[in-house]
Amino acid sequence: METLFDFLTMFNVKASSSSVTFSLLLIFLVLLYWYSVYPFSVLSRYGIKHPKPVPFFGNLFLFREGFFKPLSDLIKTNGRVCGYYLGRKPVVVVADPDLLRHVMVKDFSSFPNRMTLRFATKPMVDCLLALRNEQWKRVRSIMTPSFSAAKMKEMVPLINTVTEVLMKNLNTHAESGQAFDIHRCFGFFTMDVIASVAFATQVDSQNKPDDPFVHHAQMFFTFSFFRPMMMFFIAFPSIMAPLARFIPNKRRDQMSNFFIHSIQKIIKQREEQPPDQRRRDFLQLMLDARTGKECASLDQFDTSNHGDEAVASPKPSDQDNSHSEESALRRPQKKMMTEDEIVGQAFIFLLAGYETTSSTLGFTCYLLATHPECHRRVQQEVDDFFSRHESPDYTNVQELKYMDMVVSETLRLYPPGFRFAREVEEDCVVNGLRLPKGATLEIPAGFLHYDPEYWPEPEKFIPERFTPEAKANRHPFVYLPFGSGPRNCVGMRLAQLEIKIALAHLFRRFNVVACSETKVSSGISFLEQPSA
Ligand code: HEM
Repeated sequence: METLFDFLTMFNVKASSSSVTFSLLLIFLVLLYWYSVYPFSVLSRYGIKHPKPVPFFGNLFLFREGFFKPLSDLIKTNGRVCGYYLGRKPVVVVADPDLLRHVMVKDFSSFPNRMTLRFATKPMVDCLLALRNEQWKRVRSIMTPSFSAAKMKEMVPLINTVTEVLMKNLNTHAESGQAFDIHRCFGFFTMDVIASVAFATQVDSQNKPDDPFVHHAQMFFTFSFFRPMMMFFIAFPSIMAPLARFIPNKRRDQMSNFFIHSIQKIIKQREEQPPDQRRRDFLQLMLDARTGKECASLDQFDTSNHGDEAVASPKPSDQDNSHSEESALRRPQKKMMTEDEIVGQAFIFLLAGYETTSSTLGFTCYLLATHPECHRRVQQEVDDFFSRHESPDYTNVQELKYMDMVVSETLRLYPPGFRFAREVEEDCVVNGLRLPKGATLEIPAGFLHYDPEYWPEPEKFIPERFTPEAKANRHPFVYLPFGSGPRNCVGMRLAQLEIKIALAHLFRRFNVVACSETKVSSGISFLEQPSA
């Protein structure tokens, strides 16, 4: 304080208490302004074009109405590599498919993580989506074999049982002759599948909405941050992050505790059961994985490699790399999964598998109801299928080639994950592009899915875009519904299996018809409307 008095005297300012207060306030405001704008030089320094940011919030307000349209406009104005500031965080948007191949696959070791979820708590922090570096590698290497073709086959009876409940519920609606919201029914269906395969719990969420599992899962999806509080988090992340865990949140704690205790209880029960009486579900696969021999290495993480044969032989491009850190990455990881991590992975089924799968089913039905010729072809294929098979399973659903094209085109038009991210670990140069340490790298899958350079008449539903020939002639990194590379969607096979089993049963029995309440879709922006 004395120093401040001396300082003011130097300028011939009479050091009264009000002038001291005024000076302190001035210094505080100057520092605050500096704090609010100092991160905003990074993108320009790296030659990345971006809109003008505003103090504290950067370009956050561009996205008031959702991300898809503003992002597409940003890319169209500034080019395939451009940026923005999400609060104080620099984000580099990469819409160049060659560059994406580097980021997601070739130079994966520079981008192994998503952006840090600074405000997340347990069990969210323990799930694959959020895990980082070595911990992510270890858990993913244990989880990957649980999603192999062989393990998927074990899930089929569980999925078929839940599908029967869905068919019963659809039948009730069909017999009533009244219009109904089929997306809601698919929501109940995917919730029941998750309860069954990940939480070892048989529920009928449509008819028993008071079931504790359903009640707590729904709490998660209606969970929202108090908005003004969220603004504080964005403007002052360093101050708010440590405080986040101390801010009381009764709903969040109630929900987390429910899932944590349920899983702990089931794990205890399983340990007391003789092995041959244990239910074959994901929870059991994870428990078995703790003592089993199967364990994948980095080369085997990418589920889009199609088939377990890729597991045996690393990709040629990977073999070229003799870097010692890379070889360490490829080595099978040490096995061990804590109880917290097992709870975290069961939780990810809910987080990553519920809305993604139900919205894909809903949009597939919407597109088929509004494209009668495609509807007829799907039904013909399904009828043909059931003349050969009694019931769908992991192997025979691969015969439903046209349905596969329909689902692929649905995921192009309505990708549930239409933007996802990687973190730039260190300052680096990727395919000639300089990237700043600490920036988030955004992968705008939705923009690429509608890029007329790769998809003529992108707004139109044309399943023939996914014939084997058409796929072979297109850049693979312009279609990313499940991401790509070692960090892609580990649940892809499960999602595809669940979707095809449900659609096969559905189109065997029913026609889907649009009604006056059917909302006319307007592309991806539809996914961003909470009521969609
Ligand atoms: C149609 C359904 C689904 C879609 C479209 C979808 C899409 C995605 C996308 C785009 C990503 C990010 C990929 C990347 O960063 O490269 C992802 C990650 C992930 N998904 Fe899915 N997903 C679906 C269903 C599921 C299901 C059923 C599960 C259940 C286990 C699941 C579990 C995960 C997990 C654990 C990750 C994080 C993987 C990691 O970081 O290692 N997803 N998903």
